[in-house]
Amino acid sequence: MLVEIHKERRIGGNVKEKIMQLEEGALRAVHAAESLADIEQVRLQYMGKKGELTAVLRNMKDVAPEERPMIGSLVNEAKQKVEDAIAEFTQKLKQLDIEKRLESESIDITMPATMPKRGRIHPLSRTYRRIVEIFTGMGFTLKDGPHIDTVFHNFDALNSPADHPARAMTDTFYITEDVLLRTHTSPVQIRVAKNQKPPIRVFSVGRAYRNDTPDPTHSPVFYQVEGLVIDKNVRLTDLKGTLEQFSKMMFGESTEIKLRPHYFPFTEPSGEVDVSCFKCGGSGCRVCKGSGWIEILGCGMVHPNVLKNCGIDPNEYSGFAFGMGLDRINMLKYGIDDIRVLYENDKRVLDEF
Ligand code: PHE
Repeated sequence: MLVEIHKERRIGGNVKEKIMQLEEGALRAVHAAESLADIEQVRLQYMGKKGELTAVLRNMKDVAPEERPMIGSLVNEAKQKVEDAIAEFTQKLKQLDIEKRLESESIDITMPATMPKRGRIHPLSRTYRRIVEIFTGMGFTLKDGPHIDTVFHNFDALNSPADHPARAMTDTFYITEDVLLRTHTSPVQIRVAKNQKPPIRVFSVGRAYRNDTPDPTHSPVFYQVEGLVIDKNVRLTDLKGTLEQFSKMMFGESTEIKLRPHYFPFTEPSGEVDVSCFKCGGSGCRVCKGSGWIEILGCGMVHPNVLKNCGIDPNEYSGFAFGMGLDRINMLKYGIDDIRVLYENDKRVLDEF
């Protein structure tokens, strides 16, 4: 009997000790929790259905009947303490969380503002706008044409038949046998002349394409400016006067021009135009390579065959045409020595112009 009672006391004592240990462990864990998830972990470990404190209640059958109420209330007390601690620390952690967020999301209104970066007009667009301004100012009408055009508009109608060596002057991107990416803006001349009765005074600015490997002076895509005038009694001096006026407006009042003979299948006679160097004024520098002159365009009197191809009588009408590289003019104006700069759109480089 004595032994029995001893045994039961011992069991009761052990359970009491166990409860105190569990309580201590749970409280320590709650205090050490760094997040709400940690706390939830503690709650599950001790208080949940399979929790360690809950297990004590479940194993009450191992406790002597007279000690059960005492053990039961001990467990409930322990659970209550842990529950209170959990509530308290949950509140603390939530508060801490709010403080952290307030701190990280706060705005220092005394800090200097970062100014939004402003865009700039691309140098090609600036030159384009200036050219449009000049030619519309001279009474020319701006016309556009498709970049994908026919062999007829790009070559045939411009008096360079299939077997003509001029066809080899440019490396063409063909889409089909009859369709290509225009190699110059001259097909716009044909489209206008076919559809409009003289007097014609038009210009066009747009992209042209050639199958060239990119290097400092070649780009497979580039810009051309095209001009066309057809009327009665149009003469070479009209062409010269127009280009002289354009050059003065584009490069400065003191600019002079020089016409040199050249060859294009669609003009006769044909010429190339040099302008006096706008950098050194003609004395010779790096831009004009010491010559004092810079080549800027090709031009000539519209070939009678081209007029005929467009249904215009060459005995009644005559005309002139010119074409220039917008990129080249742009590069000369802004001192750009590599055409690729204009197409790579590296903002750091563009910001310099
Ligand atoms: N289309 C010619 C070229 O690409 C330029 C040009 C246009 C020449 C008009 C004469 C007349 O080189």
